[in-house]
Amino acid sequence: MFGNRLQRLVTQQRVGRQVLGSLKHMKPVRMVSTSSTLKQATPTETITPTSDSLGFESQPVKNEGRPIYLDMQATSPMDPRVLDAMLPYMTELYESNNLSLKGVARFYKNKKKHIITTQTEHKCVLDSCRVLQEEGFEVTYLPVQTNGLVDLKVLEAAIRPDTAIVSVMSVNNEIGVIQPIEQIGKLCRSKKVFFHTDAAQAVGKIPLDVNAMNIDLMSISGHKLYGPKGIGAIYVRRRPRVRLEAVQSGGGQERGIRSGTVPTPVVVGFGEACRIAAEEMKLIDCYDHERIERLANRLIDGITAQVEQVTRNGDDKATFPGCVNLSFAYVEGESLLMALKDIALSSGSACTSASLEPSYVLRALGADDEMAHSSIRFGIGRFTTEEEIDFVVQKVCQHVHKLREMSPLWEMFQDGIDIKSIQWSQH
Ligand SMILES: Cc1ncc(COP(=O)(O)O)c(C=O)c1O
Repeated sequence: MFGNRLQRLVTQQRVGRQVLGSLKHMKPVRMVSTSSTLKQATPTETITPTSDSLGFESQPVKNEGRPIYLDMQATSPMDPRVLDAMLPYMTELYESNNLSLKGVARFYKNKKKHIITTQTEHKCVLDSCRVLQEEGFEVTYLPVQTNGLVDLKVLEAAIRPDTAIVSVMSVNNEIGVIQPIEQIGKLCRSKKVFFHTDAAQAVGKIPLDVNAMNIDLMSISGHKLYGPKGIGAIYVRRRPRVRLEAVQSGGGQERGIRSGTVPTPVVVGFGEACRIAAEEMKLIDCYDHERIERLANRLIDGITAQVEQVTRNGDDKATFPGCVNLSFAYVEGESLLMALKDIALSSGSACTSASLEPSYVLRALGADDEMAHSSIRFGIGRFTTEEEIDFVVQKVCQHVHKLREMSPLWEMFQDGIDIKSIQWSQH
């Protein structure tokens, strides 16, 4: 599905296994918490680390057909104490949206100076575009319709002879809408404009075919498809060839597109996550998708059966079911989130949730500030259970009722007053 790039990942996994294989000379006494096996130093005592003090038993070298590893300048095996510290986090970031946009725009800058994207893209796309604007590029931020979808006629009208690239995400991370990727790809190809899609929320969840959809560049994120954090991939089409200017300088790895040594363990994890996702999607009725859809309906039906004035944001049909964004009128989203402290939820994108500004995605759909402030995103995944959904339904209903009981606006609404018609006096 992802062509040659994914094949390269697989090759990297094989190389990685050889490098990691050298670690077998050292046998960890315990796999986890090796650090606890370290001898404690008294304040005046200096410890010279030995293989034993580091938590390994010295083993006679058994190569098992592998060469002795004497290439420490190329890469060094990870100290298990480092692994201990990393395991709970694994949170380094990799950003292929930056590379797609900046790379293509800068490579073709002498001929083309225009970029098209949408107002509802992820911040990393929007911020890359702002950087390019500062470098002299012109960017069109397309509006979306009230259902969150791009209007193809508006997109077509925005394409100019100097448009280098169109970037439209496959699945929106806040409201889950699925953009008409196939039609956008067709349009871009007919106009000879490169088409990039941020598929971080889509790969492994909805079917994507870079050839059938005329996708020239595609960004994938490992930790959105049940893989490790700190790894992603970029698909770059070979024919018709897409050229990129590297964003990162260095040893010229990945054909010069992305210098730097890739972190093998997370590459392996990412490859496995892709394999599992592809397998899941091959199953009849796509097991993940079907299950997630059932759970989403259970959540929506459960809440709307008990609570009135709830709206689902985004398109009715073209939406990934695992992303349920609901607005609870007359309820302040942040207060609801705080009340639901035993449930990990977000009022919008996890990346911008530190800000109390209303979601720019919901604003782009035409939601007013009150509506945007009263929204919660429920993200349902492969490991969510029915029991969890039932618990969430019960808690959400309980707290929405409680918060509304305290709201004068809710009381006015109950009394039949049209809140929007009120002329608030300003002192
Ligand atoms: C649509 C979308 N694009 C890009 C990203 C960024 O991905 P990463 O966390 O791998 O940098 C995210 C993360 O939330 C996302 O939802």
